Amino acid sequence: MDKFVIEQCGPLSGTVRIGGAKNAVLPILAAALLTEGTTIIRDVPNLSDVEAMGELLQSLGVTLDWNRGEGSIKAAVGSLSHSEAEYDLVGKLRASFLIMGPLLARLGEVKVPLPGGCAIGTRPVDLHLKGMAALGAKIEQAHGYMTATASKLKGAKIYLDFPSVGATENIIMAASLAEGQTIIENCAVEPEIVDLANFLNSAGADVRGAGTDTVKINGVKSLKGTDHTVIPDRIEAGTYMLAAAITRGDIHITNIVMDHVKPVTAKLKEVKVKVEETPNGIRVYYDGNGDVVASDIKTLPYPGFPTDMQAVFMSLLATANGTSIITESIFENRFMQVGELKRMGADIKIEGRSAVVEGVRRLTGAQVKATDLRAGAALVLAALKAEGSTEVSDIYHIDRGYQGLAEQLNALGARILRC
Ligand code: EPZ
Repeated sequence: MDKFVIEQCGPLSGTVRIGGAKNAVLPILAAALLTEGTTIIRDVPNLSDVEAMGELLQSLGVTLDWNRGEGSIKAAVGSLSHSEAEYDLVGKLRASFLIMGPLLARLGEVKVPLPGGCAIGTRPVDLHLKGMAALGAKIEQAHGYMTATASKLKGAKIYLDFPSVGATENIIMAASLAEGQTIIENCAVEPEIVDLANFLNSAGADVRGAGTDTVKINGVKSLKGTDHTVIPDRIEAGTYMLAAAITRGDIHITNIVMDHVKPVTAKLKEVKVKVEETPNGIRVYYDGNGDVVASDIKTLPYPGFPTDMQAVFMSLLATANGTSIITESIFENRFMQVGELKRMGADIKIEGRSAVVEGVRRLTGAQVKATDLRAGAALVLAALKAEGSTEVSDIYHIDRGYQGLAEQLNALGARILRC
């Protein structure tokens, strides 16, 4: 299995262009199952998670042509061959549960393996199922599979106990072809939900209010192929911002939506890192006046501080001046990076859902292991600052969500070897 060998580096500097958002392209690929005809999705990042979703769509009868060089995927969707997702394909990618809504809407039946938990939590799907049942589906669970059937989905009023991103996406997709109007209240408002709604509406759907906590969907008879460019990845953007902050460097980040990264830029300003909007992006730099200071963080649904940025921000606070308290309120087990950061000399104590981070003067390189996508990125960033050499193993986690992280960081002055 590949690993990264990372040497301590000086301040990173230069420009990096952000790619399309992983967490937008995955639901949009699932939504392509609702369309009939040819759909083109642009600015698709070259990630193993996208590869896995593509394999799943092909197993259902979709013809996919992925031009990695251009970053575009052409999906030709005719009559879908069947409604069952294979266990080993779903096991690779939790987001594959997002095919439930589209297949139920298109075929009136769907059989999907229950997605397993992962490093960050048990990842239940009860809110997804509550939505499908409200639309009239009969739900059965047996032998590790979830089966949903419905002769015709009917619009309903659904209140989500928690603004789940995935449940909101699954219900919007199912409701797009249901009879009548569906209203989802207390739904997720993430930018990726808005991008999915824009994709669906460009294919002929009628989704209103995406980005607010109440979304109305008027079902239509069918959806046609369309051409859609995915929004930039706000978490990838945040990761490069933190690379500038951790190395006390100066990085210009382009292809970014300023509003989408506000929770992160606001926090960076709070810890005395400079953030400036430029004509085509954002500049994040350290001006040498007084060091990075501590700050408390609580992860929340958008537009609160994103849980996907919690681990990488912890790497910065591990070397800040003072004590920070980081509270992870979204996932029950998302401090997997703490043990590994402590191997590098970080001073962090976990107390329930919070981590108390005492800034230390220096980190030292060590052998550490990526446990999940964002924890892996956090260890890479910490290694840029740590004295000596760090080995990060199990970097397949990182390849799931970052296109060319090592290459992009090396172009900014890092020294990372994949071996
Ligand atoms: C999406 O996951 C993202 N993944 C995650 O990004 C992200 O961390 C998360 O949203 C929160 O922003 C994709 O979009 C592919 P949720 P999702 O449903 O949809 C509980 C990354 O690193 N919950 O909003 O699974 C759940 O247990 C990944 O890119 C239920 O209880 O997130 C969790 O505690 C990691 N019942 C909370 O809600 C349900 O039916 C948030 O989950 C569904 C969720």
